[in-house]
Amino acid sequence: MKGFSLGICVLWAMLQRSNMQIALPATALNCCEGDILLLLDSSGSVANYEFLHLLLFATELLRPFSLGRGHVRVGLLQVGTNPNLEFSLDVHNNQETLQKALQNVTQLQGDTNTVAALKVAQELLTETDKDVPKILLWLTDGVQPGDVNKLMSELKAQGVSVLAVTTVHGNYQVLQRAVTPPVQSHLYSVDIENIEIITEDLREAIIEIIRAERLRVVDLTSHSAVLQWRPVLTIESGYYELWYNSMLKMDNEIRRILPGGSSWVELTNLQPDTTYTATLRPESNQRLFNTLSVNFTTLPDVLSPTVVSVSDSGPRQIRVSWGPLQLARVQRYTVEYGAIPSGDVHTVTFNSQQNSTVLTGLEPDTQYLVTVSALHVNGKERAMTVRACTQEAPLPALDDLQLTPVERQEVQVAWQAHQEGLKGYWLSWETENSHSIKPSMSSVYLPPTSRSTRLTHLAPNSRVCVSPVYSSGRGDGLCCTAERHTGWLS
Ligand SMILES: *[C@@H]1O[C@H](CO)[C@@H](O)[C@H](O)[C@H]1NC(C)=O
Ligand SMILES: *[C@@H]1O[C@H](CO)[C@@H](O)[C@H](O)[C@H]1NC(C)=O
Ligand SMILES: *[C@@H]1O[C@H](CO)[C@@H](O)[C@H](O)[C@H]1NC(C)=O
Repeated sequence: MKGFSLGICVLWAMLQRSNMQIALPATALNCCEGDILLLLDSSGSVANYEFLHLLLFATELLRPFSLGRGHVRVGLLQVGTNPNLEFSLDVHNNQETLQKALQNVTQLQGDTNTVAALKVAQELLTETDKDVPKILLWLTDGVQPGDVNKLMSELKAQGVSVLAVTTVHGNYQVLQRAVTPPVQSHLYSVDIENIEIITEDLREAIIEIIRAERLRVVDLTSHSAVLQWRPVLTIESGYYELWYNSMLKMDNEIRRILPGGSSWVELTNLQPDTTYTATLRPESNQRLFNTLSVNFTTLPDVLSPTVVSVSDSGPRQIRVSWGPLQLARVQRYTVEYGAIPSGDVHTVTFNSQQNSTVLTGLEPDTQYLVTVSALHVNGKERAMTVRACTQEAPLPALDDLQLTPVERQEVQVAWQAHQEGLKGYWLSWETENSHSIKPSMSSVYLPPTSRSTRLTHLAPNSRVCVSPVYSSGRGDGLCCTAERHTGWLS
């Protein structure tokens, strides 16, 4: 005899809470975060060997910086009759491609239309991240730059630091007014043959502006915060002293010592929805570092359960899951469930480690209200209710089927079935077709009182199937194969 198969249904997918990834900075030479736009005089007044020297100088100046977003970004804008953006700030995120690109720059020649180039510079430097320091580094021979005053003032008012290197003493006053004070470290007038002598000083001046001295909050929950900073110490050169407290009066400061190599810390056991202030002081006996601080407010409290879900629903059972687990903060969970609209309500209690259960003994094809509530250690209670339905009960299958050969092409079919709600039986089989070698399907509907019947003109190896029919549908049937002459096979 042939068996039958039961369908398996999965109803709800459980919600998954994804874990936040904390991005930590690479430990390479990452002193700094900022945008540097080189404004390179590429006009005809610059001798070609001067132009190449300036490019070489820029290459050496920028060589030590880590590049890319979150580090230093470099763009190159050439001044000529028309400005030429050689590459924008977001193009190079490694030294190799930057240096190749710098070697590849060709001189524009033409007029020194600095004003037109400054308009482009202004757009480039003001459209990007406002929190990041920005530098316009003007490399020029100082010959007839045009009336740059107004645009330079606007740039500076927008927070851009203007630094300049000039190779001719001509228009020193113009340049003096153009740069951001102090002039001593932001304006360099130098003989092109010896330009490399200013590399270190200018780089220091740049680092001073873009040194990333920020304590940042990179992840925040209701009870914790992750603070991140750019490392200024190594494990040998010193340590960090961190202290933090909520801004509520009377709250005690918490102090921690962190090793010199660290660049982030997680503060835990914070109060929800509370503003904190945290301060980090790099301690080194080699040099003095600035103290960094940040204020942040933790998120409002999350009380479990925030998620209740239902899965693996069957005709008589449902799995209920809840979360998040808050082992330290929940005393116990209570699950209450009852059929809608008017079933009895059942209550089950679980300890704080449990986050799911299977409710059994339910009615098929019925809606239930399921409430999961948590009693928290602090006495607070939080509940969440979901609706769930059980599956329809499968209709009873046929219990037994027997074929007995009677004569050539005839069998006696006998069966047994569950009687409750039974409306009748469907029988199907294949009969021999005189017009074709393909057998044709025959079927008959028999009353519920029948238990057997005789079928004639069976096709060779015909499948004979019997299914019980109930008021709510057809139950699973059974099939057997009738073998000609020799009777039947199961
Ligand atoms: C060099 O310049 C040429 C033409 O100006 C350009 O096609 C090429 O992509 C550049 N190469 C690099 C590495 O920037
Ligand atoms: C933090 O808040 C205090 C008090 O409002 C303020 O004095 C201080 O400047 C703030 N610190 C930062 C880094 O914003
Ligand atoms: C239940 O707890 C287990 C193990 O602690 C965890 O893997 C699962 O995600 C939790 N389920 C929910 C719904 O929180």
